[in-house]
Amino acid sequence: MEVYKDITPLQHYLNEHKFHGKKIGLVPTMGALHEGHLSLVRASQSDNDVTVCSIYVNPTQFNNDQDLAKYPRTLDDDLTMLREVGCDAVFCPSDQVMYIEPSRTRLLFDRLDHIMEGKFRPGHFSGVGLVVSKLFNIVAPDRAYFGQKDLQQFVIIQQLVKDLSFNVELKRVPIIRENDGLAMSSRNRRLGKEGRGKAVILYKALTEAQKMLKVPVAIEQVKQEVRGMVEQAGVQLEYFEVIDPDTLTAVTNISEKNNVALCVAGYVDGVRLIDNVVF
Ligand code: PAF
Repeated sequence: MEVYKDITPLQHYLNEHKFHGKKIGLVPTMGALHEGHLSLVRASQSDNDVTVCSIYVNPTQFNNDQDLAKYPRTLDDDLTMLREVGCDAVFCPSDQVMYIEPSRTRLLFDRLDHIMEGKFRPGHFSGVGLVVSKLFNIVAPDRAYFGQKDLQQFVIIQQLVKDLSFNVELKRVPIIRENDGLAMSSRNRRLGKEGRGKAVILYKALTEAQKMLKVPVAIEQVKQEVRGMVEQAGVQLEYFEVIDPDTLTAVTNISEKNNVALCVAGYVDGVRLIDNVVF
């Protein structure tokens, strides 16, 4: 597996493959890899000739310095996992390589970033859009892979690709869960034993909500039930939204929709977790 910290040698490597007509898949990550990330790598490997995984904890998408400082960084373990799964190349740049100077470009996504993560993490999607654009320009992949756990991020990146005419096909890969249903996340490493026990309530609340909505119980009542369940378990609910997974617009009538996403965010002992189900 090739490991690149700088852009030019990575591009030489990629150009060689592109010259021979090889398809390139990009898996952008912030490291602290788990099975969820590996499923993105595997999806890329099955569609492309060459898979590049990027590992970069992007400071411009953190609106909270503490959160950035505490974000797990486990590069050696990440490289071992990627080697074992047969990833072809890793791009793990420093801040100096990614942001030669402090960035001044800010991205707005209209109503797409007014809700959920965008509402509670101001500037987050501007930073995501910026770093993903940089990665698309640096790697120029044929396809790029993102996890469904960050559903809003996926929709926003779809918009970014259309608006800026990036020539890349986006793939949304399903959430990978622990045995009890907790969505895999790099942030789970920050949970203590007690927090780990509590965290599963987010998924339980989503599955209960899904059952209730299918009855159908009214959306407002389901929202109240979810808040009750989550807070009863000692988890601080930040939001629970019922939305269209393609447009992110609020769903008001379940029976009229083919596709519904239930999205949740909450703090478990100070660790912010998100999850969703699409049905
Ligand atoms: O989903 C993530 O891990 C990050 O937001 C991404 C897409 C790698 C950009 O930093």
